[in-house]
Amino acid sequence: MASFRIGGARRALPSSAKGAGMTLDTDFNTTELQSQDNRFLHPWDDFQAVDKNSRTIIGKSDGIYVYDTDGNRLIDGPAGMWCVNVGHGRKEMADVIAEQALRMPYYSPWSIGTPPAAQLADKLAELSPGDLDHVFFTTGGSTAVDSALRFVMFYNNILGRPEKKHIISRHKAYHGSTYLAASCSGKERDKSFLDFETNFVHHIPAPHPYRRPEGMSVEAFCDEKVADLENKILELGTDRVAAFIAEPILASGGVIVPPEGYHRRCLEICRKHDVLYISDEVVTAFGRLGHIFASEDVFSIVPDIITCAKGLTSGYVPMGAVLISDALISRIQSTDAKSAVFSNGFTYSGHPVAAAAALKNIEIIEDEGLLEHAQEVGPYFQAKLQELRDLPIVGDVRGVGLMACIESGIPDEGLDDLAMDMAIGNRIDQHCQALGLIVRPLINMCVMSPPIVITKPQIDEMVGILRKGIELAMEDAQRDGLWQG
Ligand SMILES: Cc1ncc(COP(=O)(O)O)c(C=O)c1O
Repeated sequence: MASFRIGGARRALPSSAKGAGMTLDTDFNTTELQSQDNRFLHPWDDFQAVDKNSRTIIGKSDGIYVYDTDGNRLIDGPAGMWCVNVGHGRKEMADVIAEQALRMPYYSPWSIGTPPAAQLADKLAELSPGDLDHVFFTTGGSTAVDSALRFVMFYNNILGRPEKKHIISRHKAYHGSTYLAASCSGKERDKSFLDFETNFVHHIPAPHPYRRPEGMSVEAFCDEKVADLENKILELGTDRVAAFIAEPILASGGVIVPPEGYHRRCLEICRKHDVLYISDEVVTAFGRLGHIFASEDVFSIVPDIITCAKGLTSGYVPMGAVLISDALISRIQSTDAKSAVFSNGFTYSGHPVAAAAALKNIEIIEDEGLLEHAQEVGPYFQAKLQELRDLPIVGDVRGVGLMACIESGIPDEGLDDLAMDMAIGNRIDQHCQALGLIVRPLINMCVMSPPIVITKPQIDEMVGILRKGIELAMEDAQRDGLWQG
């Protein structure tokens, strides 16, 4: 039991235990790499374990598969980190990145344009819902969220209402790791040992149907969650609340799919009280739910601002973006403020290599019909996962499109009780890795978001391994007396 721990560190498995072998065209020394990797302070690292990890090292990837440095093939269940949407090993992506790096690797985005950034901004404006026709480029998702929040503050300052600054977010949200984005995140376990902005960032409960009170209908639960937003706005004062930020589906919080109508009704509340709606599509955009953006096409809302990253370049190079509505820009321009300089930006805003990669990525999604493909295989993926409900340890199976979560039925109330949560997600992941699949363990959950190019036979392979991994984790839990079954 003690050998499993919360967080990302995983022990490398003996190569004999893993999936089909292959020859890597590079000779890696795994032990040496693991030792060198201990110099790398990873995201969410447990500093008590620094220098003591021996992580799986991935050395190569292709399609939906990644290969560790011992040559074992694993299905990339989380698409890296919700991002390798068009799949690994795309030569056309590598070519466009190399070509742009040779033609012109970089130029300052301050007052000067470059062809890829200009063309990408125009393309995103074409693809975005409603009048979200202007784009601010960032380096990733956190900086997109931070920039969106800073823009909201800037907007209200220009409009002469500096007190309208409060942000409402939700429990179980994840919006990033910069200070403000992290403050908007609502995952309790991420709050230990760090400081956050609490004066003007507030959280309301997540619309988590699986966790609704016993006996309450989903409809009544939805009414309650929508009312939570309005009540919070009224409690803080409509003249003080600037924005509501929400992921269409709470991703890292455990793929929490809100009840039907939730976002639409929340948007209505925001409109009623002059509160801006920021839709954080860092995970849901670029095909994950079968559409370029999910806000309008899946959830019937046209927000004021959309943040995106990850699938924008399919993770080949880092990039994020904030799409801002023309209405907000017009409103700023209609004021008599003498200048309205948004003093926010990054050396790498609109990086030409990243922008070229994003353009190629979108071209691949369009030319190969990957949205239609995701719309076809998404429901199949969900239906296959639902079959796992017959396993007694499975409490909930949920998701939309190519984004899903299996949650164990073990209650997570005693959150400080690590023995209770059993790191069951980690156990499943360990077993799945040995069988040839990476899933993303999250406490008592496993989260999955494979590359959207995944085929039905590959989904069968993935779910087959997952079933076996859950069965083995279940046996562990019973053997260790942590679960009676
Ligand atoms: C919804 C959401 N917003 C923002 C972020 C932060 O993105 P990044 O890690 O690229 O900074 C993430 C990352 O997972 C996310 O899931």
